Amino acid sequence: MNRDGTASLTGKVVLITGASSGIGAAAARVFSGQGATVVLSARRADRLRELVADLREQGAEADYHVMDVRSGDEVRRVVESVVERYGRLDAAFNNAGVARHRTPLHLIEDAAYELVMETNVRGVWNCMRHEIAAMLAAGGGAIVNTSSVGGLVASSAAAPYIASKHAVIGLTKAAAVEYASDGIRVNCIAPGLTRSEMVDEWFALSPGAEEKAHRSAPQQRAAAPEEVAETAAWLCGDKASFVTGATLAVDGGRTAW
Ligand SMILES: NC(=O)c1ccc[n+]([C@@H]2O[C@H](COP(=O)([O-])OP(=O)(O)OC[C@H]3O[C@@H](n4cnc5c(N)ncnc54)[C@H](O)[C@@H]3O)[C@@H](O)[C@H]2O)c1
Repeated sequence: MNRDGTASLTGKVVLITGASSGIGAAAARVFSGQGATVVLSARRADRLRELVADLREQGAEADYHVMDVRSGDEVRRVVESVVERYGRLDAAFNNAGVARHRTPLHLIEDAAYELVMETNVRGVWNCMRHEIAAMLAAGGGAIVNTSSVGGLVASSAAAPYIASKHAVIGLTKAAAVEYASDGIRVNCIAPGLTRSEMVDEWFALSPGAEEKAHRSAPQQRAAAPEEVAETAAWLCGDKASFVTGATLAVDGGRTAW
């Protein structure tokens, strides 16, 4: 809540990537619940359409674009159309990502490596380039990228994912340093285990993985996607005005252990 009693993201135009499920879909609800105009993007039009209809029914200002973050042209077109429609882009939550789990490094195919790096690293790169251009034109803004506890510490059999999420933290710091004097803040969240399709898929394939994963953090549970989205919303808002270049672990204590 702001001092004048309005919700913390009131009036802000926010682009969310990977909004068709999990943390991104939760962010759509959390950000719009805090007063933001949300522009959702992902590849699955049917999911986005449904979510936008839901949000509009609750009185929110929401729109969507189908966009593959691996394509710089698609990202540019979406950012341009946000600016055309709303006049500016105040904040972005670059959250789209993929994981390919459970393969020893020496057995991982090039194609799997490329999919993870193209989505998780080039995707954030494409988004930041075009978002920053729009924010420079508007005189400032805030970006939050989704890394992972895998961007802070390694685990076995997920080498491309671990590398990609470390790279997200590097890109975040580089952009934060470069654009701080332009009024653009760039931060990163590092979620731990969070309930989502990505994780459900992994648990379905690996019996016993769920219980083991829960035991890997002091809080001994997975986060609800909303708990992660709340942190991203705070970082996008003016209450986080002196926070830039930071990586905030949202991991139930996992990396403190
Ligand atoms: N769930 C976890 O435990 C966990 C932990 C740490 C980090 N993360 C990160 O959180 C982010 C969100 O993941 P999630 O857990 O909500 O999983 P999810 O699979 O539910 O969501 C991923 C989203 O990214 C989108 N996406 C994937 N490739 C895309 C592409 N090329 N272009 C556009 N959109 C694309 C998907 O459609 C989906 O909307 C990811 O970056 C993931 O790496 C998740």
